[in-house]
Amino acid sequence: MNRFANKVAIVTGAAQGIGRRVAERLAEEGARLVAVDRSELVHELQDELGQRAEVLTLTADLEQFAEAQRVVNEAVQRFGRLDVLVNNVGGTIWAKPYEHYAEHEIEAEVRRSLFPTLWCCRAALAPMLEQGGGAIVNVSSIATRGVNRVPYGAAKGGVNALTACLAFETAERGIRVNATAPGGTEAPPRRIPRNAAEQSAQEKAWYQQIVDQTVQSSLMKRYGSIDEQVGAILFLASDEASYITGVTLPVGGGDLG
Ligand SMILES: NC(=O)c1ccc[n+]([C@@H]2O[C@H](COP(=O)([O-])OP(=O)(O)OC[C@H]3O[C@@H](n4cnc5c(N)ncnc54)[C@H](O)[C@@H]3O)[C@@H](O)[C@H]2O)c1
Repeated sequence: MNRFANKVAIVTGAAQGIGRRVAERLAEEGARLVAVDRSELVHELQDELGQRAEVLTLTADLEQFAEAQRVVNEAVQRFGRLDVLVNNVGGTIWAKPYEHYAEHEIEAEVRRSLFPTLWCCRAALAPMLEQGGGAIVNVSSIATRGVNRVPYGAAKGGVNALTACLAFETAERGIRVNATAPGGTEAPPRRIPRNAAEQSAQEKAWYQQIVDQTVQSSLMKRYGSIDEQVGAILFLASDEASYITGVTLPVGGGDLG
């Protein structure tokens, strides 16, 4: 398939995990790619894909609006337009019952899992409105209903709401805004940890409660693969989904989130 030929796509959080695979597959399908991450590891994509695709790799802290704006500006400067934005930055930092979260931890979760998507959507609107179209896919989570991550769930609930609301405002101007809500996803060990601190036995037990509840809540009683997540993201980003907007698609083996 070559669904993204002649399209310019930004993928955030592209250094590892779901975002990295989205970047690889967009490039394989012909996109001119802007891969962004806070980690320098994102530059590996230049070596990996640069022979076969047009790739720009950028480091940026997307918790800051100015950084999101800079990324969009550099993408448009390099490639002249912006067709696809995949907002993938996010991920729970802590796993524990809500009474154990400190104020600064709650804020950090919302900054990590809501603001990068809000900022990048805002920054991407100008080029997409000017050219009269575009597709935004926000990576949310089925964790909007689940244990031991209230702040993350609240942030992802915000992602679902901004997806729907922005779709209302932009549908008649050619922009589609959708989200996927991944369920538990098998991935290799993270080279960039979400939380570098050593986990206590109690924290490991709380994390295990998340894993058990996630498997239980899925009808298929299993985690998904990264490629099962990426397939849904690429579908929503592509013209195959041309009559779909404002939707959060659960990709959780039957767990609707
Ligand atoms: N893995 C899962 O089981 C799962 C389940 C449900 C939802 N999700 C969602 O899918 C998305 C990707 O998950 P993952 O497990 O692949 O994530 P991950 O934690 O493995 O990778 C996230 C990437 O984002 C980057 N990043 C973090 N903060 C950033 C910032 N401020 N600016 C720029 N880059 C930043 C990190 O450096 C990292 O490369 C996340 O939004 C996550 O919430 C994942």
